[in-house]
Amino acid sequence: EQIEKGGYDHFMLKEIYEQPHAITDTFRGRLLVNEGIIRMAGIDDHIEKFQNANRIIVVACGTSWHAGLVGEYLFEDLARIPVEVEYASEFRYRNPIITEKDVVIAISQSGETADTLAAIKLAKEKGAFVFGVCNVVGSSIARETHAGAYTHAGPEIGVASTKAFTTQITLLSLIALKLGKANGNLSHGQYHAYLNEMELIPRKVEVLLSMNELVQHVASIYKDVPNCLYLGRGYNFPVALEGALKLKEISYIHAEGYPAAEMKHGPIALIDENMPVIVIATSKGHYEKVVSNIQEIKSRKGKIIAIVTEGDTQVKEIADHVIEIPETDELFTPLLTTIPLQLLSYHIAVMLGKNVDQPRNLAKSVTVE
Ligand code: G6P
Repeated sequence: EQIEKGGYDHFMLKEIYEQPHAITDTFRGRLLVNEGIIRMAGIDDHIEKFQNANRIIVVACGTSWHAGLVGEYLFEDLARIPVEVEYASEFRYRNPIITEKDVVIAISQSGETADTLAAIKLAKEKGAFVFGVCNVVGSSIARETHAGAYTHAGPEIGVASTKAFTTQITLLSLIALKLGKANGNLSHGQYHAYLNEMELIPRKVEVLLSMNELVQHVASIYKDVPNCLYLGRGYNFPVALEGALKLKEISYIHAEGYPAAEMKHGPIALIDENMPVIVIATSKGHYEKVVSNIQEIKSRKGKIIAIVTEGDTQVKEIADHVIEIPETDELFTPLLTTIPLQLLSYHIAVMLGKNVDQPRNLAKSVTVE
Protein backbone atom coordinates (compact mmCIF):
# COMPACT_ATOMS: atom_id res chain seq x y z
CA GLU A 1 0.00 0.00 0.00
CA GLN A 2 2.88 2.35 0.79
CA ILE A 3 4.12 1.90 -2.76
CA GLU A 4 0.66 2.59 -4.16
CA LYS A 5 0.58 5.83 -2.19
CA GLY A 6 3.64 6.92 -4.14
CA GLY A 7 5.40 8.53 -1.18
CA TYR A 8 2.34 10.40 0.08
CA ASP A 9 0.94 9.79 3.56
CA HIS A 10 -2.55 9.18 2.25
CA PHE A 11 -4.30 8.34 -1.00
CA MET A 12 -6.33 11.52 -0.66
CA LEU A 13 -3.21 13.69 -0.66
CA LYS A 14 -1.77 11.77 -3.59
CA GLU A 15 -5.00 12.25 -5.50
CA ILE A 16 -5.11 15.97 -4.70
CA TYR A 17 -1.61 16.27 -6.12
CA GLU A 18 -2.49 14.22 -9.18
CA GLN A 19 -4.99 16.82 -10.33
CA PRO A 20 -2.82 18.75 -12.80
CA HIS A 21 -2.09 15.45 -14.51
CA ALA A 22 -5.64 14.13 -14.22
CA ILE A 23 -7.16 17.29 -15.71
CA THR A 24 -4.68 17.06 -18.59
CA ASP A 25 -5.70 13.44 -19.12
CA THR A 26 -9.35 14.51 -19.27
CA PHE A 27 -8.75 16.89 -22.14
CA ARG A 28 -5.99 14.95 -23.88
CA GLY A 29 -7.02 14.18 -27.47
CA ARG A 30 -10.19 16.23 -26.99
CA LEU A 31 -9.03 19.80 -26.56
CA LEU A 32 -7.28 20.58 -29.84
CA VAL A 33 -6.24 24.17 -29.34
CA ASN A 34 -4.25 24.57 -32.56
CA GLU A 35 -7.11 23.30 -34.68
CA GLY A 36 -9.61 25.24 -32.61
CA ILE A 37 -11.83 22.24 -31.96
CA ILE A 38 -13.06 20.05 -29.15
CA ARG A 39 -13.33 16.46 -30.30
CA MET A 40 -15.51 14.11 -28.29
CA ALA A 41 -16.97 11.13 -30.11
CA GLY A 42 -19.76 10.66 -27.53
CA ILE A 43 -21.01 14.17 -28.25
CA ASP A 44 -20.13 14.41 -31.95
CA ASP A 45 -22.16 11.29 -32.73
CA HIS A 46 -25.25 12.66 -30.99
CA ILE A 47 -24.86 16.40 -31.31
CA GLU A 48 -28.40 16.89 -32.64
CA LYS A 49 -29.81 15.28 -29.47
CA PHE A 50 -28.13 18.00 -27.42
CA GLN A 51 -28.93 20.79 -29.85
CA ASN A 52 -32.60 19.87 -30.04
CA ALA A 53 -32.95 19.17 -26.33
CA ASN A 54 -35.68 21.02 -24.44
CA ARG A 55 -33.48 20.78 -21.39
CA ILE A 56 -30.66 18.86 -19.82
CA ILE A 57 -31.36 17.02 -16.58
CA VAL A 58 -28.28 16.12 -14.57
CA VAL A 59 -28.65 13.22 -12.13
CA ALA A 60 -25.96 12.35 -9.60
CA CYS A 61 -25.16 11.90 -5.90
CA GLY A 62 -22.64 13.37 -3.48
CA THR A 63 -19.64 15.13 -4.94
CA SER A 64 -20.75 14.23 -8.46
CA TRP A 65 -23.97 16.16 -7.81
CA HIS A 66 -21.85 19.20 -6.95
CA ALA A 67 -20.01 18.83 -10.25
CA GLY A 68 -23.45 18.69 -11.88
CA LEU A 69 -24.32 22.05 -10.30
CA VAL A 70 -21.21 23.58 -11.85
CA GLY A 71 -22.43 21.98 -15.08
CA GLU A 72 -25.71 23.86 -14.75
CA TYR A 73 -23.88 27.19 -14.72
CA LEU A 74 -21.69 26.08 -17.64
CA PHE A 75 -24.46 24.79 -19.91
CA GLU A 76 -26.82 27.68 -19.31
CA ASP A 77 -24.09 30.29 -19.55
CA LEU A 78 -22.19 28.96 -22.57
CA ALA A 79 -24.73 26.92 -24.52
CA ARG A 80 -28.01 28.55 -23.37
CA ILE A 81 -29.64 25.18 -22.75
CA PRO A 82 -31.94 25.02 -19.69
CA VAL A 83 -30.59 22.67 -17.03
CA GLU A 84 -31.97 20.98 -13.95
CA VAL A 85 -29.73 19.21 -11.48
CA GLU A 86 -31.30 16.43 -9.47
CA TYR A 87 -30.25 14.15 -6.66
CA ALA A 88 -30.72 10.75 -8.29
CA SER A 89 -32.47 9.44 -5.16
CA GLU A 90 -35.12 12.18 -5.31
CA PHE A 91 -35.53 12.12 -9.07
CA ARG A 92 -36.22 8.40 -9.27
CA TYR A 93 -39.00 8.42 -6.67
CA ARG A 94 -40.90 11.60 -7.41
CA ASN A 95 -42.64 10.66 -10.64
CA PRO A 96 -40.57 13.16 -12.64
CA ILE A 97 -41.67 14.61 -15.95
CA ILE A 98 -39.30 13.25 -18.58
CA THR A 99 -39.84 13.42 -22.32
CA GLU A 100 -38.07 12.27 -25.46
CA LYS A 101 -36.84 15.82 -25.89
CA ASP A 102 -34.84 15.66 -22.64
CA VAL A 103 -31.17 14.80 -22.41
CA VAL A 104 -30.16 13.25 -19.12
CA ILE A 105 -26.53 13.48 -18.05
CA ALA A 106 -25.63 10.99 -15.32
CA ILE A 107 -22.43 11.81 -13.46
CA SER A 108 -20.69 9.16 -11.39
CA GLN A 109 -17.08 8.53 -10.48
CA SER A 110 -17.57 4.84 -9.75
CA GLY A 111 -20.32 4.25 -12.28
CA GLU A 112 -21.94 1.97 -9.68
CA THR A 113 -24.08 4.24 -7.48
CA ALA A 114 -27.43 2.48 -7.08
CA ASP A 115 -29.65 5.58 -7.12
CA THR A 116 -27.93 7.05 -10.17
CA LEU A 117 -28.22 3.75 -12.01
CA ALA A 118 -31.94 3.53 -11.19
CA ALA A 119 -32.48 7.13 -12.33
CA ILE A 120 -30.87 6.28 -15.68
CA LYS A 121 -33.13 3.27 -16.16
CA LEU A 122 -36.19 5.40 -15.45
CA ALA A 123 -35.09 8.13 -17.88
CA LYS A 124 -34.49 5.53 -20.58
CA GLU A 125 -37.94 4.03 -20.07
CA LYS A 126 -39.42 7.48 -20.62
CA GLY A 127 -37.53 7.90 -23.86
CA ALA A 128 -34.84 10.38 -22.86
CA PHE A 129 -31.36 10.26 -24.31
CA VAL A 130 -28.95 9.39 -21.50
CA PHE A 131 -25.32 10.44 -21.52
CA GLY A 132 -22.86 9.15 -18.89
CA VAL A 133 -19.92 10.97 -17.33
CA CYS A 134 -18.00 8.25 -15.48
CA ASN A 135 -14.48 7.63 -14.33
CA VAL A 136 -14.45 3.85 -14.05
CA VAL A 137 -14.23 2.30 -17.50
CA GLY A 138 -16.78 -0.42 -18.21
CA SER A 139 -18.77 0.35 -15.05
CA SER A 140 -22.51 -0.34 -14.84
CA ILE A 141 -23.48 3.28 -15.55
CA ALA A 142 -21.06 3.47 -18.47
CA ARG A 143 -22.74 0.40 -19.93
CA GLU A 144 -26.31 1.43 -19.17
CA THR A 145 -26.14 4.86 -20.86
CA HIS A 146 -26.72 5.52 -24.60
CA ALA A 147 -23.41 7.36 -24.95
CA GLY A 148 -20.87 8.97 -22.71
CA ALA A 149 -17.39 10.19 -22.01
CA TYR A 150 -14.87 9.06 -19.44
CA THR A 151 -13.09 11.50 -17.18
CA HIS A 152 -9.83 9.47 -17.30
CA ALA A 153 -8.86 10.64 -13.80
CA GLY A 154 -7.26 7.29 -12.97
CA PRO A 155 -8.22 5.21 -9.93
CA GLU A 156 -9.53 7.22 -6.99
CA ILE A 157 -9.00 5.31 -3.72
CA GLY A 158 -9.64 7.96 -1.04
CA VAL A 159 -13.31 7.86 -0.06
CA ALA A 160 -13.48 11.67 -0.19
CA SER A 161 -13.60 12.51 -3.86
CA THR A 162 -11.01 15.01 -5.15
CA LYS A 163 -9.62 14.46 -8.62
CA ALA A 164 -12.89 12.89 -9.75
CA PHE A 165 -14.61 16.20 -9.02
CA THR A 166 -12.20 18.44 -10.91
CA THR A 167 -12.06 16.10 -13.89
CA GLN A 168 -15.87 15.92 -14.02
CA ILE A 169 -15.95 19.72 -14.14
CA THR A 170 -13.26 19.69 -16.83
CA LEU A 171 -15.30 17.30 -18.93
CA LEU A 172 -18.51 19.27 -18.45
CA SER A 173 -16.63 22.43 -19.48
CA LEU A 174 -15.50 20.74 -22.68
CA ILE A 175 -19.06 19.68 -23.48
CA ALA A 176 -20.51 23.11 -22.67
CA LEU A 177 -17.91 24.89 -24.80
CA LYS A 178 -18.52 22.48 -27.64
CA LEU A 179 -22.28 23.00 -27.51
CA GLY A 180 -21.89 26.75 -27.07
CA LYS A 181 -19.86 26.83 -30.27
CA ALA A 182 -22.26 24.50 -32.14
CA ASN A 183 -25.28 26.56 -31.04
CA GLY A 184 -23.65 29.77 -32.19
CA ASN A 185 -23.72 31.26 -28.70
CA LEU A 186 -20.00 31.71 -28.42
CA SER A 187 -18.17 34.03 -30.77
CA HIS A 188 -15.18 32.64 -32.60
CA GLY A 189 -12.83 34.82 -30.58
CA GLN A 190 -14.33 33.99 -27.21
CA TYR A 191 -14.39 30.27 -27.95
CA HIS A 192 -10.72 30.27 -28.91
CA ALA A 193 -9.78 32.32 -25.87
CA TYR A 194 -11.53 29.75 -23.65
CA LEU A 195 -9.75 26.87 -25.35
CA ASN A 196 -6.40 28.56 -24.81
CA GLU A 197 -7.19 29.27 -21.19
CA MET A 198 -8.35 25.73 -20.49
CA GLU A 199 -5.00 24.38 -21.54
CA LEU A 200 -3.35 26.57 -18.88
CA ILE A 201 -5.49 25.29 -16.01
CA PRO A 202 -3.27 22.32 -14.97
CA ARG A 203 -0.32 24.70 -14.54
CA LYS A 204 -2.48 27.02 -12.43
CA VAL A 205 -3.58 24.07 -10.28
CA GLU A 206 0.13 23.40 -9.67
CA VAL A 207 0.56 26.95 -8.45
CA LEU A 208 -2.19 26.33 -5.88
CA LEU A 209 -0.66 23.04 -4.78
CA SER A 210 2.55 24.92 -4.06
CA MET A 211 0.61 26.90 -1.42
CA ASN A 212 0.16 23.75 0.66
CA GLU A 213 2.12 25.09 3.64
CA LEU A 214 0.01 28.22 3.85
CA VAL A 215 -3.16 26.10 3.86
CA GLN A 216 -1.62 23.81 6.47
CA HIS A 217 -0.95 26.84 8.66
CA VAL A 218 -4.58 27.97 8.36
CA ALA A 219 -5.68 24.40 9.20
CA SER A 220 -3.58 24.45 12.38
CA ILE A 221 -5.42 27.57 13.58
CA TYR A 222 -8.96 26.29 12.99
CA LYS A 223 -8.64 22.53 13.50
CA ASP A 224 -10.53 22.53 16.82
CA VAL A 225 -13.63 24.47 15.76
CA PRO A 226 -17.01 22.70 16.03
CA ASN A 227 -18.58 24.44 13.02
CA CYS A 228 -17.53 26.01 9.76
CA LEU A 229 -19.41 27.94 7.08
CA TYR A 230 -18.50 28.00 3.38
CA LEU A 231 -19.84 30.71 1.08
CA GLY A 232 -19.64 31.26 -2.65
CA ARG A 233 -21.73 32.74 -5.46
CA GLY A 234 -22.34 31.80 -9.07
CA TYR A 235 -19.88 29.23 -10.36
CA ASN A 236 -18.38 29.03 -6.89
CA PHE A 237 -21.57 28.29 -5.00
CA PRO A 238 -21.22 24.55 -5.77
CA VAL A 239 -17.56 24.80 -4.71
CA ALA A 240 -18.71 26.10 -1.31
CA LEU A 241 -21.01 23.06 -1.00
CA GLU A 242 -18.18 20.74 -1.98
CA GLY A 243 -15.74 22.42 0.42
CA ALA A 244 -18.16 21.91 3.31
CA LEU A 245 -18.79 18.30 2.29
CA LYS A 246 -15.04 17.54 2.26
CA LEU A 247 -14.63 18.91 5.78
CA LYS A 248 -17.61 16.96 7.13
CA GLU A 249 -16.59 13.74 5.45
CA ILE A 250 -13.08 13.43 6.80
CA SER A 251 -12.77 15.64 9.90
CA TYR A 252 -16.33 15.20 11.26
CA ILE A 253 -16.55 18.95 11.84
CA HIS A 254 -20.01 20.25 11.11
CA ALA A 255 -19.83 22.40 8.00
CA GLU A 256 -22.40 24.05 5.79
CA GLY A 257 -22.05 25.40 2.29
CA TYR A 258 -24.33 28.28 1.32
CA PRO A 259 -24.82 30.73 -1.52
CA ALA A 260 -23.21 33.87 -0.06
CA ALA A 261 -26.29 36.04 -0.47
CA GLU A 262 -28.50 33.52 1.33
CA MET A 263 -26.39 33.95 4.46
CA LYS A 264 -28.70 36.69 5.66
CA HIS A 265 -31.65 34.29 5.55
CA GLY A 266 -30.28 32.09 8.31
CA PRO A 267 -26.60 31.28 8.76
CA ILE A 268 -25.75 34.86 9.73
CA ALA A 269 -27.41 34.08 13.08
CA LEU A 270 -24.60 31.61 13.78
CA ILE A 271 -21.76 34.03 13.21
CA ASP A 272 -19.69 35.11 16.20
CA GLU A 273 -15.97 35.19 17.02
CA ASN A 274 -15.84 31.38 17.11
CA MET A 275 -17.18 30.82 13.60
CA PRO A 276 -14.71 30.52 10.74
CA VAL A 277 -16.23 31.41 7.39
CA ILE A 278 -14.51 30.36 4.21
CA VAL A 279 -15.51 32.75 1.46
CA ILE A 280 -14.75 32.38 -2.21
CA ALA A 281 -14.29 35.93 -3.49
CA THR A 282 -12.64 35.75 -6.89
CA SER A 283 -12.34 38.92 -8.92
CA LYS A 284 -14.84 37.90 -11.59
CA GLY A 285 -18.33 36.89 -10.64
CA HIS A 286 -20.16 39.23 -8.28
CA TYR A 287 -16.99 40.39 -6.54
CA GLU A 288 -18.45 43.55 -5.00
CA LYS A 289 -21.44 41.59 -3.69
CA VAL A 290 -19.19 39.05 -2.02
CA VAL A 291 -17.10 41.85 -0.50
CA SER A 292 -20.21 43.24 1.15
CA ASN A 293 -21.06 39.74 2.43
CA ILE A 294 -17.57 39.58 3.93
CA GLN A 295 -18.10 42.92 5.63
CA GLU A 296 -21.28 41.57 7.21
CA ILE A 297 -19.31 38.64 8.62
CA LYS A 298 -16.54 40.92 9.85
CA SER A 299 -18.93 43.21 11.68
CA ARG A 300 -20.18 40.15 13.60
CA LYS A 301 -16.59 39.19 14.46
CA GLY A 302 -16.55 36.01 12.34
CA LYS A 303 -13.14 34.74 11.24
CA ILE A 304 -12.67 35.06 7.50
CA ILE A 305 -10.62 32.78 5.32
CA ALA A 306 -10.93 34.17 1.80
CA ILE A 307 -10.05 32.64 -1.53
CA VAL A 308 -9.26 35.60 -3.78
CA THR A 309 -7.68 36.32 -7.15
CA GLU A 310 -4.01 37.28 -7.08
CA GLY A 311 -3.52 41.01 -6.78
CA ASP A 312 -6.68 41.46 -4.72
CA THR A 313 -6.52 44.38 -2.33
CA GLN A 314 -10.06 44.93 -1.04
CA VAL A 315 -10.69 41.55 0.60
CA LYS A 316 -7.12 41.36 1.89
CA GLU A 317 -7.83 44.32 4.12
CA ILE A 318 -10.73 42.67 5.88
CA ALA A 319 -10.01 38.93 5.82
CA ASP A 320 -8.02 37.12 8.51
CA HIS A 321 -6.35 34.88 5.93
CA VAL A 322 -6.23 34.99 2.16
CA ILE A 323 -5.31 32.35 -0.36
CA GLU A 324 -4.73 33.67 -3.87
CA ILE A 325 -5.67 31.84 -7.02
CA PRO A 326 -4.10 32.72 -10.38
CA GLU A 327 -6.20 34.84 -12.73
CA THR A 328 -8.55 32.90 -15.01
CA ASP A 329 -11.97 33.16 -16.68
CA GLU A 330 -14.88 32.91 -14.28
CA LEU A 331 -16.06 29.60 -15.68
CA PHE A 332 -12.74 27.93 -14.87
CA THR A 333 -12.46 29.27 -11.31
CA PRO A 334 -14.07 26.18 -9.68
CA LEU A 335 -11.10 24.12 -10.90
CA LEU A 336 -8.79 26.40 -8.91
CA THR A 337 -10.82 27.47 -5.85
CA THR A 338 -11.54 23.81 -5.02
CA ILE A 339 -7.87 22.96 -4.49
CA PRO A 340 -7.19 24.92 -1.26
CA LEU A 341 -10.50 23.71 0.17
CA GLN A 342 -9.46 20.09 -0.42
CA LEU A 343 -6.09 20.75 1.24
CA LEU A 344 -7.72 22.53 4.18
CA SER A 345 -9.98 19.56 4.93
CA TYR A 346 -7.12 17.14 4.48
CA HIS A 347 -4.81 18.91 6.92
CA ILE A 348 -7.50 19.45 9.54
CA ALA A 349 -8.44 15.75 9.42
CA VAL A 350 -4.77 14.69 9.69
CA MET A 351 -4.18 17.06 12.62
CA LEU A 352 -7.24 15.62 14.38
CA GLY A 353 -5.93 12.10 13.84
CA LYS A 354 -8.86 10.97 11.70
CA ASN A 355 -8.82 8.17 9.18
CA VAL A 356 -8.55 10.36 6.09
CA ASP A 357 -8.80 7.70 3.42
CA GLN A 358 -11.55 5.68 5.06
CA PRO A 359 -13.76 7.95 7.13
CA ARG A 360 -16.23 6.33 9.48
CA ASN A 361 -19.63 5.33 8.11
CA LEU A 362 -18.80 6.27 4.51
CA ALA A 363 -18.27 4.08 1.47
CA LYS A 364 -16.44 4.89 -1.73
CA SER A 365 -19.35 3.71 -3.74
CA VAL A 366 -22.92 3.29 -2.52
CA THR A 367 -24.22 0.32 -4.46
CA VAL A 368 -27.28 -0.29 -2.29
CA GLU A 369 -30.01 2.13 -1.34
C1 G6P B 1 -20.22 8.19 -2.08
C2 G6P B 1 -18.77 8.67 -2.06
C3 G6P B 1 -18.68 10.10 -2.60
C4 G6P B 1 -19.32 10.17 -3.97
C5 G6P B 1 -20.74 9.62 -3.99
C6 G6P B 1 -21.24 9.45 -5.42
O1 G6P B 1 -20.94 8.92 -1.14
O2 G6P B 1 -18.24 8.61 -0.75
O3 G6P B 1 -17.34 10.50 -2.66
O4 G6P B 1 -19.32 11.50 -4.41
O5 G6P B 1 -20.78 8.33 -3.39
O6 G6P B 1 -20.45 8.48 -6.03
P1 G6P B 1 -20.26 8.33 -7.58
O7 G6P B 1 -19.31 7.16 -7.73
O8 G6P B 1 -21.60 8.04 -8.16
O9 G6P B 1 -19.68 9.58 -8.10
